[in-house]
Amino acid sequence: MKFVLANDHGGIDLEPVVKEKLEDLGHEVIHVGTFDKNSCDYSDFAVKACEKIKAGEADFGVLICGTGLGMSISANKIKGIRAACVSEPFSAKMSRAHNNANILCLGARVIGSELCKMIVEEFATTDFEGDRHQRRIDKISKIEENN
Ligand code: RB5
Repeated sequence: MKFVLANDHGGIDLEPVVKEKLEDLGHEVIHVGTFDKNSCDYSDFAVKACEKIKAGEADFGVLICGTGLGMSISANKIKGIRAACVSEPFSAKMSRAHNNANILCLGARVIGSELCKMIVEEFATTDFEGDRHQRRIDKISKIEENN
């Protein structure tokens, strides 16, 4: 699978941890920035990453900011994006299994490297279960259409 990875300055320290974990799991990673610790706006990088998914250039994304919150709020404004902000492995797994999340959002000021690796592994190795969960995803898509 292809993963697009984006972070702001608050998420920059966790980016190499995520990249290495995804590559260890056999995935291709495209990093769209930011590349230094200068203050920047998370929404700009959330959009860059989501554009890669919308264009079919990536299957999934991981967005990292200080808390994961700004990235997830931004990404979820974009049609077709289901971004889950999580800080433990169970929710990471369920975000794929039940919510068919296509983006994982992480907070570099919330979790440490080892927990991060466990979260990324659950997200990257869990399939969507479909069935009744697809009906619920379809209803989310209708909310997008109607608002
Ligand atoms: C940047 O200081 C911080 O606000 C940002 O990384 C993120 O945590 C926002 O949700």
